[in-house]
Amino acid sequence: MAMIDDLKAIEAQAAKGISGAPTLDDLDRIRVAVTGKKGSLTGVLRSMGAVPPEQRPQVGKFANEVRGRVEEALEARRVELSHAAMQARIAADAVDVTLPGRRPQVGSQHLISQIVEEMEQIFCGMGYRVMDGPQVETTYYNFTALNAPEDHPSRSARDTFYVVDNAPEGKEAHVQGESDVLLRTQTSGVQVHTMEEHEPPIYMICPGTVYRPDTADACHLPQFTQIEGLVVDEGITFGDLKGTLDYFCREMFGSDRATRYRPHFFPFTEPSCEVDVSCGVCGGKGCRFCKGTGWLEILGCGMVDPNVFGFSGIDPEKYSGFAFGIGAERVAALRYDLPDLRMLMTGDMRFLRQF
Ligand code: DAH
Repeated sequence: MAMIDDLKAIEAQAAKGISGAPTLDDLDRIRVAVTGKKGSLTGVLRSMGAVPPEQRPQVGKFANEVRGRVEEALEARRVELSHAAMQARIAADAVDVTLPGRRPQVGSQHLISQIVEEMEQIFCGMGYRVMDGPQVETTYYNFTALNAPEDHPSRSARDTFYVVDNAPEGKEAHVQGESDVLLRTQTSGVQVHTMEEHEPPIYMICPGTVYRPDTADACHLPQFTQIEGLVVDEGITFGDLKGTLDYFCREMFGSDRATRYRPHFFPFTEPSCEVDVSCGVCGGKGCRFCKGTGWLEILGCGMVDPNVFGFSGIDPEKYSGFAFGIGAERVAALRYDLPDLRMLMTGDMRFLRQF
């Protein structure tokens, strides 16, 4: 009965291998080596022909029993190993649901955008339209059509960023042969675009970025935001200008703040003035913030000069109007008592989150 001994040896070896198999792959290798087509057990079963006929039933029965037990052991170990593998995966992927979550960072509008939007609301409430204009301008729109003389100092390269040197020979003879294309120094050029494109009555504001070759300090920025305003209609007077801007200041800064109109000069308005708002820090008594004056300047304004109407083809005998230019950064500083305009440009979230 040598074959019975062989079967017993195969079974013992298989049992040892199966129980010690560390992974599913190792287990599968054992399965192939024992019960596979060329496996040891299969080999024994194939050689049944060599067994004397009277022993065949007994040997055959035993061989089938061995095969059954080996297959059972293989399956039991397979279940055990796959369960362990699953447990390991679960442990590795574990999420601690008690940990505090990561909050998504919610964005918000920059303070200057908020101020601009608020001004748009105030003026739209009075029936104004919001216009847009190019930031890259020509000397014609930024200066000439706004009645600025050819030798006006603001045209020089020390006060204006010129963009490309494409001035045609002798044309639009700006200062010292510079380019006639520039980064606008003011939004006032949009007045001209608007009057060229629209018939009066015109009630518009235009918020936008302007550029000047200034070194940034507490009260100046080389890039800042203006809100231009223009009204052209029949019978518009200085009283309309004052009523409009007083209303704006009350809405923007509160009814406890006073306004003051100081005579000034702008080439495109006549008469012109600058408007101050009483200082919110000292209530108008004078402090460091307002440099002891009790007032803070926020805008320039005036009655549209008839020459400007002339450039844009509007009849100054029939129409009159007023214009104004407000600095959004100044308004923000005034409203929130900001000691330094540069805070608006740094992107420091500790500062910006306050608004
Ligand atoms: N453009 C002027 C500036 O940048 C501000 C200004 C003054 C605009 C008077 C106006 C105005 O429309 O009428 O300083």
